[in-house]
Amino acid sequence: MKKILITGGAGFIGSHVVRRFVTQYPTYEIYNLDALTYAGNLENISDIEHLPNYTFIKGDITDVDFINALFQQHQFEGVVHLAAESHVDRSITDPLSFVKTNVFGTMNLLNAAKTIWKDHLEGKRFYHISTDEVYGSLGATGLFTETTPYDPNSPYSASKASSDHFVRAYGETYGLPYVITNCSNNYGPNHFPEKLIPLFIHNIINHKPLPVYGDGKYTRDWLYVIDHAIAIDLVFHQGKNHETYNIGGFNEWQNIDLVQLLCQKMDEKLGRSAGTSVQLISYVKDRPGHDLRYAIDASKIQNELGWEPSVTFEEGLEQTIDWYLSNEKWLQHVTSGEYQQYYQKQYS
Ligand SMILES: NC(=O)c1ccc[n+]([C@@H]2O[C@H](COP(=O)([O-])OP(=O)(O)OC[C@H]3O[C@@H](n4cnc5c(N)ncnc54)[C@H](O)[C@@H]3O)[C@@H](O)[C@H]2O)c1
Repeated sequence: MKKILITGGAGFIGSHVVRRFVTQYPTYEIYNLDALTYAGNLENISDIEHLPNYTFIKGDITDVDFINALFQQHQFEGVVHLAAESHVDRSITDPLSFVKTNVFGTMNLLNAAKTIWKDHLEGKRFYHISTDEVYGSLGATGLFTETTPYDPNSPYSASKASSDHFVRAYGETYGLPYVITNCSNNYGPNHFPEKLIPLFIHNIINHKPLPVYGDGKYTRDWLYVIDHAIAIDLVFHQGKNHETYNIGGFNEWQNIDLVQLLCQKMDEKLGRSAGTSVQLISYVKDRPGHDLRYAIDASKIQNELGWEPSVTFEEGLEQTIDWYLSNEKWLQHVTSGEYQQYYQKQYS
């Protein structure tokens, strides 16, 4: 029996990771720790909450006494750490909350793991889920590799870079067994509609404007969230200690091209005439410190662990749109704030 703590498991990526671990490994005990901020939604994992190897714990990773007591009580053997403030725009208006959760919260988990694993490091693993944004911005060519120097440009990416450094430092200084992955932009079911793809799906359904930053030429690599969860499973079990792996979709898109594709697919799905949704595009003032291009070289995880995305972008996008169209209740709950009552109803 393995006791694994997953943090941020009520969020977008975390919910897919929790589902993957709980269903793939019935002999593990999976503990999902989440503070249920605006981004945490227990409805994301309501399908697995009855399973005997799953426990939800409401709590804050920045609470020192609570985290220490939790680690002492459960003696976790592995930590998969996703809990974070994750939205770049919010980090520009409130950078300190990103330092608190992403840097201090990670430190707090590292200290608790270090304390309970002190004399028994064998078989333990601290896994930090990070982002490609720590590498800064690329020009028109080139790819981020695991040895690209860190060069973060937003308070969000600076906080993730900082927490990566602390994880690595705990490995060097205290011998803490760790792995880090830096992943590109995710998309898929259960994504909170403040990020580009779910926001635009929601706005297209409701005939609302589609705000595109600057000239729309920003380029991102996109990965289907379930493929990210599969990669996390693989790295957790087979990744080498003290290593970093980049994860990406081999799938670069300029924002404006992606939005046009999304408009076209949404028109088809909603039975609207071709060219309807594209008229909703509205160019808005650029975000400060906006990185021009991210692109990932994911050949290390591909060659060492045999991981590759299982769906093409077209397939993943179709599945994502279908999910949003058939889960209107989820979307309504999230946009009205009603999902925040789920915990009270379910657990109080
Ligand atoms: N979304 C992406 O495209 C992407 C890409 C690469 C890496 N990442 C990283 O993956 C992780 C998950 O991202 P996401 O998009 O699922 O984020 P998200 O914002 O959807 O979810 C974050 C979760 O963390 C929880 N949380 C926040 N503060 C907490 C605290 N103090 N204590 C306990 N729980 C707390 C929230 O309630 C939420 O459930 C983050 O670490 C992020 O940096 C995200």
